[in-house]
This record gives sequence, C-alpha cells and structure tokens, in this order.
Amino acid sequence: MLPCAERVVASISRRLFRSYLSVSSRRRCNITAFMPEAAGFDGVSDRSTLQDFSVSNSEKFWAAAARHRLSWIRTFDAVRDCDLSRGKIKWFEGGKLNVSVNCLDRHVHTCPDKVALIWERDEPGSEVKVTYRSLLDMTCRLGNLLRRRGVKRGDCVTIYMPPCPMAVASMLACARIGAAHNVVFAGFSAEALSERIRDAQSSTVITVNQGVRGGKLVELKKTVDEAVQSCPTVQQVFVATRTENPVLMAARDVALDEYVFSYQDGDVFGCVADIGWITGHSYTVYGPLANGGTTVLFESTPIYPDPGRYWEMVQRLKINQFYGAPTAIRLLLKYGDQWVRKYDRSTLKTLGSVGEPINTEAWEWYHTVVGDGRCPVVDTWWQTETGGICISPKPSDPDAEIIPGMAMRPFFGIKPVLMDTEGNVQSSSDTSGALCIAQPWPGMARTIHNNHQRFIETYCQPHPGYFFTGDGAYCSKEGYYQITGRLDDVINVSGHRIGTAEIEDVVNQCPVVAESAVIGYAHDIKGEGVFAFAVLKQGVDTQYGDVSQQLKDTVSKKIAKYASPDHIQFVKRLPKTRSGKIMRRVLRKIVEGDLEGLGDLSTLDDPTAVQEIIQGNSELC
Ligand code: PRX
Repeated sequence: MLPCAERVVASISRRLFRSYLSVSSRRRCNITAFMPEAAGFDGVSDRSTLQDFSVSNSEKFWAAAARHRLSWIRTFDAVRDCDLSRGKIKWFEGGKLNVSVNCLDRHVHTCPDKVALIWERDEPGSEVKVTYRSLLDMTCRLGNLLRRRGVKRGDCVTIYMPPCPMAVASMLACARIGAAHNVVFAGFSAEALSERIRDAQSSTVITVNQGVRGGKLVELKKTVDEAVQSCPTVQQVFVATRTENPVLMAARDVALDEYVFSYQDGDVFGCVADIGWITGHSYTVYGPLANGGTTVLFESTPIYPDPGRYWEMVQRLKINQFYGAPTAIRLLLKYGDQWVRKYDRSTLKTLGSVGEPINTEAWEWYHTVVGDGRCPVVDTWWQTETGGICISPKPSDPDAEIIPGMAMRPFFGIKPVLMDTEGNVQSSSDTSGALCIAQPWPGMARTIHNNHQRFIETYCQPHPGYFFTGDGAYCSKEGYYQITGRLDDVINVSGHRIGTAEIEDVVNQCPVVAESAVIGYAHDIKGEGVFAFAVLKQGVDTQYGDVSQQLKDTVSKKIAKYASPDHIQFVKRLPKTRSGKIMRRVLRKIVEGDLEGLGDLSTLDDPTAVQEIIQGNSELC
C-alpha cells in the first residue's frame, strides 16, 4: 500500500470535480460509426459496453479488429494461443500480412496524394511534405536496394538516423522485405551504437551524412564509422544525404539518393518523440500511417531557435494532436507563458503526455496555457513492452472526465490488475499495488531478442499468469488508475512506503522549482531517508537555505512529516537519458558515494550534469 497516493489523488480529485468534470455533456454515440465491426457484438451499444466486451470477449474483439482494419495476405486460422505463465504469446497464427503494405499501399489506392509525413526540419519554416504515393515509392526503391544488396528475411538492419522521411522509408522497407529493424536514437554515442549493432548482429547499417539539431551539425556518419570498427558483422553502410557537406566514404559505404514531394491538406498528428524510441515507432510511424493519417517528423529540439518552437510549429503546420513528454513540458514551463501565448494554437484538439508521471503543475500548465483550457490532456500510460497505449483517459468515452495526473481508464482489450506485496490480486478498488495486465493483447512483446528466458523471468514469473509491468499504480474507487512510478522507485521511510514520484509532485508545485528528483538513501534511524535534487526556474534569485526550508515544510504539510526531504541539493540540471527519463540510479550512487558504481552512462543526455552534481554533492555533505 502507498498511503499517500490516496491522499494525493483525493486532493487532485477535489480540484478536478470543481474545474474539470464535464459529466453533463455525455454524448451517446452510434457505436458502429466508431467501430463498424462492433455491429456483430452482442449487447454492445456504446463505447463503454465495447470496453467491457473487449476484455470479456477478447478473442472476438481482436479478431474483428484484425479482420476489418488490416489487409491480410492470408487470413489467420486461430486468433490466439497464449499462456502468460509460460511466456507463450501467439496471435493470429497461420495469418500473413505485411505492415508496410498496411501503412502505405492501401492508402495509395484510396488517397495517393494525401500527406503522410510532414518533416519538421530543424530550421523553422523549412518543412517538407511527403505524400503516401511518394513514401511508397521511396520505400519500394529502398526495399529493392536492400534486397539486391543481400538483406533478407529475418536479418536485422540497424537504422541510425534522425527523424526524416528516409528514416521512415528505411523502417518500412525493412518491414516490406521481412527484415527486422533496430532503430538506434541518433543522439547515442559510438560506443552505445556499436553495442546495439553487435546485439542485433546487423550486417547492414543505414545512416545520414550529418544530422542537424538545434542549429548544430551532428556527425552521424563519423559516429557510425567509429562504432562499426568494433562490429565485425557489419558489411555495408548506406548513407543518405541530410546536409550538403561531403563525408568520407569507405569501400563498404553506399550513398542513397534523395526523393519527390507533394502536398495535400489533412489532419495532422504531431508526435514529437524521436523515432529511436517506442513512442516514435508506434505514434510517429506505424500508428498514423497504418490509419492513413498525416504525421509530423520532428527533427529539432523544443528550445531551438527559442522556447516557442513547438507552438510556432503547431501554428505553421496546423497540428491537431500534440503528443510529447512531461520532461519537455516542465522545461518549457520554466521559460514562461509568453512563448506559448504568442502563437495561434486553435487547431489543437488533444494534448498527449507519455513516458513518465506528469506532475500536477506541468499538467495544469499544459492544459490551461498550451491548450487554453479547452483541449483535453491525455496522460497515456504504456511501455516499450506493451507496444501501444494501455491506460489512457479517453479510450471508451470521448466526453469522459479527466483527473490531472491520472492515466485513468484501461484501453480496449486491456485488463489491468494490482497485486499486493504477497502477490495476490487486490480485489477492491481504492487501493495501490504492482501493476500487472491479466490477459494478453496483440501488440504486446512476445520475447526478448535471443533471450526468451529473460523475457519469462522479467515479465511472466513475478506474478504467474499475468504480465508484470514493473510499475506501481493506484486505482481509485471509481476505477481510475494513477501510475505511481517504477516499483524500484518506492522507498521505505520509518516503515512508511512512499513512491518518490509523490514527493517530487509536491516539490514541483513550489513556484520556484522547475523540476526535481527524489531518491532514498540508507539512514541509520529511519531505514531510508529522503534526498531531493531540485532545479530552480530560470531567473529565480533566491537564498537556497530559505527555499530548502520552504520545500521541506511544503512536503510535511501536503504529504507527511516523514516524507519531508532530509537533504536538498540544488542543481542546474538532472541526469537524464536522451528520451528524457531521470536516471535516479545515478543519483543514488552519488549520494552513496559509490562513484565507481555509476554504471552504464552511455544513454545519458549530458554527462557534464553528473560531474556538476558530484561536485555539488561533495560540497553539501
Ligand atoms: O514507468 C512507466 C513510465 O515509462 C515506462 C516505460 O518506458 P519506455 O519503455 O521507455 O516507454 C516510454 C513510452 C511509452 C513505464 O513503465 N511511463 C510511461 N508512461 C507513463 C509512465 N509513467 C507515468 N505515467 C505515464 N503516463
């Protein structure tokens, strides 16, 4: 049990019921207009009964969705054959389809000139639009080239490219010829890249000559050259052209030609995640394209050339759905509202958040400032392993209420359960526990490449018969879910278990704080003590001692005295992965004084942040 979760939720709920509830305007929609295949489902009349049906008749639900929404080369014989306790996950056996055909060809038949991709290049105002027809053309040509160059079904091609049409075409070309792709975030170092190439045993790498990010050139080809030195499997490197600068080409390098563009109006989906992360895979590339949508490929950073970049882009590209990470929202919040308000955001309909808990202050800013109080903020919970969104505010009711900071309701076909510390399913709501999913769904991970045993041990064995997510969650009495953080981020202070995210949420509500990270450390008396790292907002000129005391008092008041930080270290920035997740493990090691044990830092966004924190910590302690 996480006693404070209930209190945090109760306080948010009260505020919500004052300002965010919109129960009066519930619309009863025609279910077949939403999901035509639901016509064959007994007793399903609206989205909420559809949600129940999708869980209790999971096979029927997924079979109908698969038959109606995808083009099959050969239809499947069986819908599913799964046993979570043994890590056996098989869907649609006997069936055969090609995901690239589903993302491209069928839309080219109906709307060839619809814009598939809007490539939002680093320099604002230089966007490039690519139609479904052009993307198919590019994909086929690349697929043929890969095939001619010996890439075959089952091979794994490593793609080390920034978000750009050629990167998407590379992913789809691999899918087209039956090769797997291993997209490595183009900010990773040579060492991190070579490790991933070796892991995938790739013989082929696709990259660009140079990247451009935040006005700076990024030497991607040079990084690949360095990385492949320790990758004996690599035989060829395809190099696309992003800038006009020539790069050194070795015997194994093959230059890729560039392509044709055109334009047509349409709804624009703006997921700003890099394609190297699962969010970019599912919600920049495969999801929008499989649905015939127009998707934005964001090459730049949220603060280039200034902190108004996202909203200037929303205005210029007329983005309808914006999907980003809380870390970027917190960063932008620091710079103030003027960067948002100067741009027209009237095209926005929905604001999405993903990747980590969104603290209350960031949620409210996103909702009231960015969304002008009229766009719902959907805090979507999922993981790389789940493939797509699993818990989200509005899967089954477009007019449903949203509580800030809560992921709210399970998605179609998803049945979450919470386990207590003994491993029993919690039967009542208004409770906390380890978040598991009770039955399989088609998008879930089936294995870990070359290590199925590890898959079983990590996800199937902790709670046999259930998929274990590693996250903690709270479920309110209304059945709404709030993610409380990774289970290993729960600390035990004087016998009280508390998620560090809850303390961070309160610290972040302090007006001078931009963001924070809280960890537990060994404490002689309390078992674990609370150590907070806080980044102050830009331009805040204040006495650290005063702020420190103010933060401690606020946590005591809003949560409990035991949760109040024993130490607060003010830092310029937190150590984060390139996808924006705070590396709390590094902070723990610094506080423990175990600098030898910092571990793998190759995914760190800015290693100098760690040095600064080490220095500050030694002065503090
Ligand atoms: O701890 C959860 C957190 O991010 C983890 C998954 O990270 P990754 O596989 O990199 O995928 C990120 C994009 C889906 C989860 O186990 N997480 C993700 N979304 C949320 C979240 N934590 C709280 N609230 C969320 N909405």
